[in-house]
Amino acid sequence: MNLIAGPTMRVPFYNIKAQYEELSSQLDQVVHEVISGGAYVMGPHHKKFEEEMAKYQGVKHAIAVNSGTDALRISYDAAGFGPGDEVITTAFTFVASVETIVQTGATPVFVDIDETTFQMDPAKLEAAITPRTRGIVPIHLFGQMCDMERIMAIAAKHNLVVVEDAAQAIGATRNGKYAGSYGVAAGLSFYVTKNLGAAGDGGMIITNSDEIAEKCRSIRVHGMGRERYYYDYLGYTSRLDEIQAAIMAVKLTKLNEWNQRRAKLAAVYQDLLREADVVTPQLLEGNTTTWHQYTIRTSRRDELQAHLKESGIDSMIYYPVPIHYHEPYKRFAKGQGSLPVTEKVSLECLSLPIHQHLTVEEVTYVANMVKALLPKSAAAAR
Ligand SMILES: Cc1ncc(COP(=O)(O)O)c(C=O)c1O
Repeated sequence: MNLIAGPTMRVPFYNIKAQYEELSSQLDQVVHEVISGGAYVMGPHHKKFEEEMAKYQGVKHAIAVNSGTDALRISYDAAGFGPGDEVITTAFTFVASVETIVQTGATPVFVDIDETTFQMDPAKLEAAITPRTRGIVPIHLFGQMCDMERIMAIAAKHNLVVVEDAAQAIGATRNGKYAGSYGVAAGLSFYVTKNLGAAGDGGMIITNSDEIAEKCRSIRVHGMGRERYYYDYLGYTSRLDEIQAAIMAVKLTKLNEWNQRRAKLAAVYQDLLREADVVTPQLLEGNTTTWHQYTIRTSRRDELQAHLKESGIDSMIYYPVPIHYHEPYKRFAKGQGSLPVTEKVSLECLSLPIHQHLTVEEVTYVANMVKALLPKSAAAAR
């Protein structure tokens, strides 16, 4: 008999090692191929991975770079964001979406999000447009997409450039189109914990524009043009390492299956948490999600997180403090209270473990522990 009261199960938020274990023979082989072959920079794996990603995303060009942050920064440069411009985006995000706007010299302008989907609220866009507005950066958060039809219609009406932050949304679709295929360009991230994660950092720019693709390819390598040591643009050194490209090409073959596994687990959460007093994630009509995160809301968020921890379950708060509260970004916003939905959601959101190597049993345990603290009243559950 177990006399020590304690968690019956340990549920970590991520299990990155399990990805290696599932694919170890193929990964070992390609890593060995790269190291022993000596083509470490923009070799055959890099080319192959770009071609396969363009096919996967249904876009003309895929340009591999060394992070999602660089994918955004280079896309913004190629799209022409710069000093004097205003770029509209949201503050409920990872900082990279916004820091890169600031780095171009442009001014980020924050609009609020939709409470039910966590995505940019298109109804707030027109009021934020001024004669200086140059672009819009919709951020597809947690694996589903913003309402791109409405955003693109407003952008067209006001002649604005749209660059999508699709860092969290590889494989997500809206009305049959992949994330990243609406705007002039989009940035994807292959950071370790993403649905398609590198063994380190990685990212990709996708675009259907030949002109943007040519600029991004050049900016990625110091702005070098058609000839070596001739520079057409101000650039960076931001190639995706060959070894990462080789790893990513192997993992890409598994992405759809891995996303399906996440969907199966999310369905278990959705079903069981109907009996809990929490707000479960909602999809915008026309969207599919890759369940990059499974994020619930409750006014008793901190209490729930502590209760889950005691039960052996890791959870994460994405994102505890909206971007406009942080020192480097305060000057771009109208202060606390200026984005009421973003601010409310930041206090209530909690992401539960979801990844392709969790079991139905583990997810059931998590949901039961949520229900144990926050049961729905019998009347409400009916
Ligand atoms: C919404 C969003 N944008 C941008 C990024 C930046 O990507 P990376 O970490 O690959 O630089 C991330 C990654 O965490 C992200 O979640």
